[in-house]
Amino acid sequence: MCGIVGLIGSPNATNIVLNGLKRLEYRGYDSSGIASMGADSLISIQKAVGKIAALEELLARTPLPPAIMAMGHTRWATHGKATALNAHPHRIDNVAVVHNGIIENFQELREEIAAADITLQTETDTETVPALIQLALNQSKSALQALQAALPRLEGAFALGIMLEDDPKTLYATRRGAPLCVGIGDGVHYIASDPLALAEHTNKFIFLEEDDIAVLTTDKITLYNGNGQEVTRPTQLIDLSGILATKGGYKHFMLKEMHEQPAVVSNILAAYLEDDVLTLPALNWADITSVNIIACGTAYYAGLVGKNNLEQLAGIPVNVDVASEFRYRNPPLQKDGLFIAISQSGETADTLAALEYAKRHGQHILAVTNTPTSSIARAADVVLNIYAGQEIAVASTKAFMGMITVFALMGLQAGQIRKKIDSQTFTAHLQALKELPAKLTQTLSNDAQHTKTADLFRDANSALFLGRGTLHPLALEGALKLKEISYIHAEGYASGEMKHGPIALVDEHLPVVNLASSSDGLLEKTISNMKEVEARHGKVILITDQTAAQTLDADIAKTATLITVPEVPAITAPMVFTVPLQMLAYHVATMRGTDVDQPRNLAKSVTVE
Ligand code: M6R
Repeated sequence: MCGIVGLIGSPNATNIVLNGLKRLEYRGYDSSGIASMGADSLISIQKAVGKIAALEELLARTPLPPAIMAMGHTRWATHGKATALNAHPHRIDNVAVVHNGIIENFQELREEIAAADITLQTETDTETVPALIQLALNQSKSALQALQAALPRLEGAFALGIMLEDDPKTLYATRRGAPLCVGIGDGVHYIASDPLALAEHTNKFIFLEEDDIAVLTTDKITLYNGNGQEVTRPTQLIDLSGILATKGGYKHFMLKEMHEQPAVVSNILAAYLEDDVLTLPALNWADITSVNIIACGTAYYAGLVGKNNLEQLAGIPVNVDVASEFRYRNPPLQKDGLFIAISQSGETADTLAALEYAKRHGQHILAVTNTPTSSIARAADVVLNIYAGQEIAVASTKAFMGMITVFALMGLQAGQIRKKIDSQTFTAHLQALKELPAKLTQTLSNDAQHTKTADLFRDANSALFLGRGTLHPLALEGALKLKEISYIHAEGYASGEMKHGPIALVDEHLPVVNLASSSDGLLEKTISNMKEVEARHGKVILITDQTAAQTLDADIAKTATLITVPEVPAITAPMVFTVPLQMLAYHVATMRGTDVDQPRNLAKSVTVE
C-alpha cells in the first residue's frame, strides 16, 4: 500500500528518497512522487503514474533542484483515480504533504476549506491536510503550532511527512493508526513508513506513537506527544543487513520465497525447539477456555489451520474471524480470554483495530507475525515470530508456511500443558515436524507435475478448490493464490458443501482441484466428490499423497490429473499440501503473463481498512 520516505541532511536527498521508494515498491502502488526543498527555500515536486521507473525517467528529464531535504511517496489509490494529479506529495501554498491512510472526514473539511477560499485541485482526501495546515499558518502560528492546531482536526488513520516553506530547514512527521518511524543516521535524519526503505542508511529507529509529532533538523530530532509535551521514545536497533532482498537467481520473488519454505520451517524449529523441548513463550494454556483468532487474507486461512491444531491437539474451542468483520461486530469476549492476531506485515489496519478492540475488552494478546517491530507486535503482550524473513512478493507463501508451522508447535505446547497428548504421540508429532523441511524440499522439486497441471487452466475463467478437515483452509488459500496472481476467478469450498451449490458451476471447462490426504480418514469421501465432478465432465485435478494415489480406482486414476506429494502424518499435511497449490498458481500466472510479484490492484501491506 502507500509508502513514505523522507530525510534531511544529505546533499543526495532526492536520490536517497528515490531509492527508498524503490525499496517500498513491493508493497503495491500505482503512482509516486517526490518533493524537495531547494536552497532557495522553495518546494519543488515531481509526480508520475505507474512504476517508480516512470518517476525516475521524469526526474532524469526534469531534475529537481539540489536539496538536502526531500520526501517521497508511493500511492495506492483510495480516493481518486491513479493520476499524476492525485499522486502525492500534495501541496497547498507553502505546505507539502505525503500521506498514508485515509482522512475520513475529508468531505466536511473540503467544505470548510472551500469556505476559506482555498481551491482544492485533486479528488483526494489528502489535499485537505496541507490546506488545514496552511489555514493555521495564516493565523500567524509557527509551523509546529500550525501542525498542533490542524492535526487534531483529522479523523481516520494517517502517517504524514510534511515540509513547509515557512520552515525550510525542518522536516515534520506524524502518525495515527498507520505506521511511521524516524531513522537516525550520521548527520542525516529520516522518516519512513517501513524501516526497510532505509535499510542501506541506518539500523537505528524510533517508532512514533499515536499522535506524536517528530521535528527533524540536520542535527536534532525532537518529539512531541499529542498533548504537545516534548517526549522521548526508545531507539531500537533493527538488523536489516539480510533484508536487502534480491531474487537470488529466481525469475520472481514469489518463486524464491516458495523455495525458502524448508528454511523457514528449520528457522522456526531452531527458535522454538531445544532438545525436544518446546521453548515457545509460555502461555497460560492450562487455564485458557477459549481462543479468538483474528486475521485477514492468507493469514486468516492460517488461522483456520491453527484452529484445527488447537482444537485437535489441545481440546481448546477456537473461533476464527476475519478482522474486518470482528472489529465492527462488537463480539462479547470472555474476560482474560486469549486473542491471537496473525499478520505477516504486522501492520494490517483491520487486524490492528480488532486487536485494539480485544485489548479494551481485557483479552490477553498474542501476535503471530513476521515483523516483530510492527505495530501489531508492539501492541501485543506476547509475540511469536514466524522467522520467514522479508516477504517481497505480494502473494504470501513462506509467511503462510511459517504461520501454520508455528500453530502446529503452539497446538503441541498447549496439548502438552493441558495433558491432552501422551509423550509417545508428542514425540511422533515432533518427528514429523523435524522431517518437514526435507518433505517440503521433495515437494518443491515436483515441478513437472505442477507445470503440466497448470496447462489445464490455460483458457479457464473460473476454478474450484475443494478440501476437507485441515485441507479445507488450504482449498481457500489455493483459490486465493490463483485469483491474486493469475486473475482467474476461483473459489475454495469445503468438499462436503459442493453439492449445496457450487456443483452447478461444473462443466467441461471448469478445473476442480481436490485435496485428499491418506492421513485424515477422509479420503473416501473426497473421492466420492471427485466422481461427482467427473460425472459432470469437470476437469478433475487431484492433489494427494503417494499412498492415497495407489488406492485410487482405475476410473479416477485414468481421468484425473494427479499431483502427488510425499506421505506425511496429519500434523504436517497442511504444510506439504500448501506447496503444490502455490506452485500451481505461480505456473498459471506465468503462463498467462501476469505481474506475479506485484499483481494489479493489490498491496503487500493493507494499512487502510
Ligand atoms: O500482513 P498480513 O498478514 O496481515 O496481510 C493479510 C493479507 O492482506 C494478506 O495475507 C493477503 O491476503 C495476501 N496478499 C495473500 O497472498
